[in-house]
Amino acid sequence: MKNNMNVVDLFAGCGGLSNGFEKVGFNILLGIDSDADASKTFLHNHKNSKYLLKDIREVTQKDIKEKIGNKRVDVVIGGPPCQGFSISGKRAFIDPRNSLYLEYFRIVDILKPKVSIIENVPGLSSLYDGKALDSIKNEFRKRGYTVVHKILKADEYGVPQIRKRIVIVGTKGKEFQFPKSNNKVVTLAEALSDLPKLNSDEVVEKYNTKPTNKYQKLMRQKSTILHNHVGTNHSEKTKKIISLVPEGGNYKNLPKHLQGTRKVNIAWTRLNSSKPSLTIDTGHRHHFHPWENRVPSVRESARIQSFSDDFIFLGSKTSQYRQVGNAVPPLLAKSVGSQLKRWLNG
Ligand SMILES: C[S@@+](CC[C@H](N)C(=O)[O-])C[C@H]1O[C@@H](n2cnc3c(N)ncnc32)[C@H](O)[C@@H]1O
Repeated sequence: MKNNMNVVDLFAGCGGLSNGFEKVGFNILLGIDSDADASKTFLHNHKNSKYLLKDIREVTQKDIKEKIGNKRVDVVIGGPPCQGFSISGKRAFIDPRNSLYLEYFRIVDILKPKVSIIENVPGLSSLYDGKALDSIKNEFRKRGYTVVHKILKADEYGVPQIRKRIVIVGTKGKEFQFPKSNNKVVTLAEALSDLPKLNSDEVVEKYNTKPTNKYQKLMRQKSTILHNHVGTNHSEKTKKIISLVPEGGNYKNLPKHLQGTRKVNIAWTRLNSSKPSLTIDTGHRHHFHPWENRVPSVRESARIQSFSDDFIFLGSKTSQYRQVGNAVPPLLAKSVGSQLKRWLNG
């Protein structure tokens, strides 16, 4: 990049989005979020960045200035929670008093970046017959941005996971072109096979094999010690039930009398190692490891999200699962960032 481009990340969480942008040379000045554990993880992994740990509704221009001084901000990125736009909650009207989207634009108005990017769940595009997305795009246009959107599939960008995100990009100037997919599918086996076996709540900090493929080499490039690879202490009953489910199977593969032991439609799902993983969540414990009788560790979940092994998650285990599950996969973010770099360089 001609000059180092400065980025502010809103609703930054642990920094999956930031991490991808940083990997292609963006300078992450600041993350803003109200989650204290996520802020620790973010700062630990982005040593040159600042964090504003605060409810965004209370963030003022002065707060931001105190953190980054008068530095120019070229790009604002962020994924406001789908509050007011939720597809799973009640489909009530969008309440402007409640919309974190408007908070996103309030900060954009303070920082006036050349480029402003929002990512979110793909359901946003069809919500209220597309009216929710239209209203967001109008907010960009009102501020003079040319705006485009696309639903990106993480597995098409080297992430071993089926995960779709909508990305909306506003640019001052010519339209942004989304990155082309690289079509190299990474399976769950390719993502996880070098990580040591875990019993119950065992903590394993040493790799016991060499990386066996390109993905594993990439993940381990800067890491000699394993972090966040901790087992889960399931009951004997849970271990016995999941042992009856084959790879790619679920509660339907269980004997009839065990099928109703968990009352959710994704109950007792065992991931299939020959495909990319199903979308990981924030730690509901219904998706089990493809060949061990336990849920994936935080490190395995991070691998599924394409966080490299040197990215360390802090906070309680519950919080670590939440941070990983909430994040934008860094490799997906990296592809968008890399394309943006080309755009910025003309
Ligand atoms: C989907 S996560 C963002 C993940 C992040 N983009 C990443 O890639 O790691 C949404 C974040 O919004 C934050 N959040 C929700 N409401 C907030 C508010 N009122 N003020 C600040 N942050 C908020 C949550 O703490 C959460 O970390």
